[in-house]
Amino acid sequence: MGLPLAIAFADRGANVGIYDVSESAVESVNAGRLPFDEPGAAPLFERAVASGRLLASTDPAIVGTAEHVVVVIGTPVDEHLNPNQTAIPKALSGCSRYLRDGQVMVLRSTVFPGVTALVEKMIAGLGVSIEVAFCPERIAEGKAMTELFELPQIVSARSPKGLERASALFSLLTDTIVELSPEEAELAKLFTNVWRYIKFAAANQFYMMANDRGLDFERIRQGLARDYPRAADMPGAGLAAGPCLFKDTMQLAAFNNNNFALGHTAMTINEGLPLYLVHRLEQRFDLSAMTVGILGMAFKGGSDDIRSSLSYKLKRVLEFKADAVLCADPYVRVDDNLLPQEEVIARSDLLIIATPHPDYRDLALTKPVADIWNVLGGGVRV
Ligand SMILES: NC(=O)c1ccc[n+]([C@@H]2O[C@H](COP(=O)([O-])OP(=O)(O)OC[C@H]3O[C@@H](n4cnc5c(N)ncnc54)[C@H](O)[C@@H]3O)[C@@H](O)[C@H]2O)c1
Repeated sequence: MGLPLAIAFADRGANVGIYDVSESAVESVNAGRLPFDEPGAAPLFERAVASGRLLASTDPAIVGTAEHVVVVIGTPVDEHLNPNQTAIPKALSGCSRYLRDGQVMVLRSTVFPGVTALVEKMIAGLGVSIEVAFCPERIAEGKAMTELFELPQIVSARSPKGLERASALFSLLTDTIVELSPEEAELAKLFTNVWRYIKFAAANQFYMMANDRGLDFERIRQGLARDYPRAADMPGAGLAAGPCLFKDTMQLAAFNNNNFALGHTAMTINEGLPLYLVHRLEQRFDLSAMTVGILGMAFKGGSDDIRSSLSYKLKRVLEFKADAVLCADPYVRVDDNLLPQEEVIARSDLLIIATPHPDYRDLALTKPVADIWNVLGGGVRV
């Protein structure tokens, strides 16, 4: 999320210095190579690097050169689903000696509620006069280079001066600024992601109910939503995964002392879908004698991002049940175990479309296929 934002600011004429602890990421940016796919980013990125407006460094001293310091580090939950409330203060301590009077610090990561206040306290303890703002990133991967310029920007800060300066920064990108208090904005960001996660869980639960009765959820969904705006937002079924929705649901649950039945239930439904699919397939096929092919390892269609992808959970479950599991993905470049798509299709007895890549729409498959996303248009029954 940091790099698309940096590209957008540079495109609007700002000089942007990126500080990152990852040497490979810094090297890639300075060499003019995007470290991941993001539609529309390449031309703006190349222009920004060539013009000298975008520069990356592993040297924290670069932080001292900035008027605005924007913090976009990752905020994952740990293996026990606990958020790390001190991740951002700890990251800041790595460059705190370069923070100086007059800077604005914008927290952009999705944070555990209260982290903005914690950072304000940390800054006060350093004895520097810096305005702290929390301005959450709300773009979706794959849409960054349009949404950064189109979505309203939530801006929050304790002081009018902080609000004014953070608003001025984001006015470089977008016309609509929405002001909230830091505590409101922290919850606004979490509620947005968790709302989406719960909607996907509702659809997945409906899917399983219909599927268990031999009915096609996608036919039902399209039927009920047709010319009926109140149901237009019902999502289709699918593997709801990725680096944000799940972990932000767990962050909100922890924030509410784990008193979040709806969020935890959404998690068990969404994370249980790969198990359900394998269970259903087991009832129809002798998986132990079959080679199963998984098409799509990224967490979303058209993306090369495998972080927290449920395709890998599906693979793990199948490796225990099937004779062999083969995987392919036309976008993913970071997994040496992937095979060419044609080979996976040719060698498999059964195929599962695990990611709705647009490239799959025209596949003419003669093998049995489980297509929960309805990519092939033949229904979602499994
Ligand atoms: N991925 C999304 O779709 C999305 C959308 C909206 C908001 N967000 C939020 O944005 C934040 C960043 O997400 P991301 O997917 O870009 O994470 P990421 O892990 O891909 O990127 C974080 C970057 O920060 C660097 N970093 C980590 N610790 C550092 C430190 N101490 N000092 C300097 N650099 C450091 C990492 O090397 C990495 O390059 C998270 O809070 C996430 O929840 C993500």
